[in-house]
Amino acid sequence: MSLPHLHLLVTGGAGFIGANFARAFLTNDPATRVVILDALTYAGNLANLEGIDEDRCVFVRGDIRDTPLVCDLLRQHSIRALVHFAAESHVDRSILGPDLFVETNIVGTHSLLKAARLVWLEEQPGAHRFHHVSTDEVYGSLELRAPAFSESSPVRPNSPYAASKAASDHLVRAYHETFGLDAVITNCSNNYGPYQLPEKLVPLLIVNCLLGERLPLYGDGLHVRDWLHVQDHCQAIALAMRVGVAGETYNIGGENERTSLEILRLIVSEIDHAFERDPSLSEKYPHCPAATGKSCAELVAFVRDRPGADRRYALDISKARRELGYAPRAAAGPAFESAFRGTVRWYIEHDAWWKSVMDGQYREWVALNYKNR
Ligand code: NAD
Ligand code: TYD
Repeated sequence: MSLPHLHLLVTGGAGFIGANFARAFLTNDPATRVVILDALTYAGNLANLEGIDEDRCVFVRGDIRDTPLVCDLLRQHSIRALVHFAAESHVDRSILGPDLFVETNIVGTHSLLKAARLVWLEEQPGAHRFHHVSTDEVYGSLELRAPAFSESSPVRPNSPYAASKAASDHLVRAYHETFGLDAVITNCSNNYGPYQLPEKLVPLLIVNCLLGERLPLYGDGLHVRDWLHVQDHCQAIALAMRVGVAGETYNIGGENERTSLEILRLIVSEIDHAFERDPSLSEKYPHCPAATGKSCAELVAFVRDRPGADRRYALDISKARRELGYAPRAAAGPAFESAFRGTVRWYIEHDAWWKSVMDGQYREWVALNYKNR
């Protein structure tokens, strides 16, 4: 689709993927401006936006459920396209407290849809785009040897998080079918990269290695995820924004299936080697086993699994390849290993960032989540 000049609304732009997206989008397209709407929940952090071009980026602290606020932003900034990242995004939290997931992910998405319908279809009809960011978890769990999920796989969410995202996907689709909203959905796999809160597997394991804390692997550690570098995901969203067909859904994966145990081994090996290469790390992280010549592998602890844990996710991305021209740069093989090791090094170097986001509220949650596991 062609939009004359992009003034883009990014919801959840102070979270992990939203912040990476806003930064990449402003860098890659000098003609664009971005308005970020973010409630700054426990997961949102202005530190994620450090270094962003402030002349072309407006930050608004607000709630996506505030429909009049969203309408005002669309009008005031002449916004004709939005990318919707804002969500409650952590499965463990949805097990301990599902209500907020219904509120944010379902009611919140519906609030945005109502605002878009009012401003883009009724008040000022014309070219527009509503890009909804969703997850592969809506498809449920795959048997080990089953073919990867395609866009026509049945929707069978297992966790309250996945169910709330599936419900939001249905609402977006319904607004396209019923009201003619120009909407596209992308369902992506597990992202990794800079600025991810250390409550998700990859940054949690890295930070715990550095602090000398245990590395909790749920169940037998053999759950399989398709690991996607956040930059590959951002590239796919930018493509879908521009050439994706209204009403369509595209699966975005990294073509890179790994067990949690394999991910842990990669992290341990990169950190052990980093300490061998750079003796100054031992002073910076004295509690890390590698600081005294041992391996971080000694921190591994197999703990109780999530109830209803999904065994495997995998995405067939042939539609995105064919119709969007998407190709993951960090696909399985040396490209993945290099991107993944780069991510581990980013956390080793950016302790000021992760220390600033692991505040009292975060620590309380971690204590609760891992209690009795
Ligand atoms: P995140 O938890 O890091 O960030 C979510 C952001 O949304 C935060 O900045 C938070 O402050 C904001 N937010 C929450 N509730 C809000 C509200 N009511 N109003 C305004 N802002 C609000 O999430 P993420 O990992 O960056 O994920 C972004 C999107 O991608 C989500 O929709 C998630 O479901 C989806 N997704 C993520 C992954 C992944 O691996 N992280 C995988 C598949 C899909
Ligand atoms: P996570 O990063 O929470 O993403 P998702 O549940 O959305 O896939 O978890 C990825 C996998 O890692 C999942 O199988 C659960 C597992 N896991 C652990 O083994 N230990 C942990 O401490 C966490 C947070 C996750």
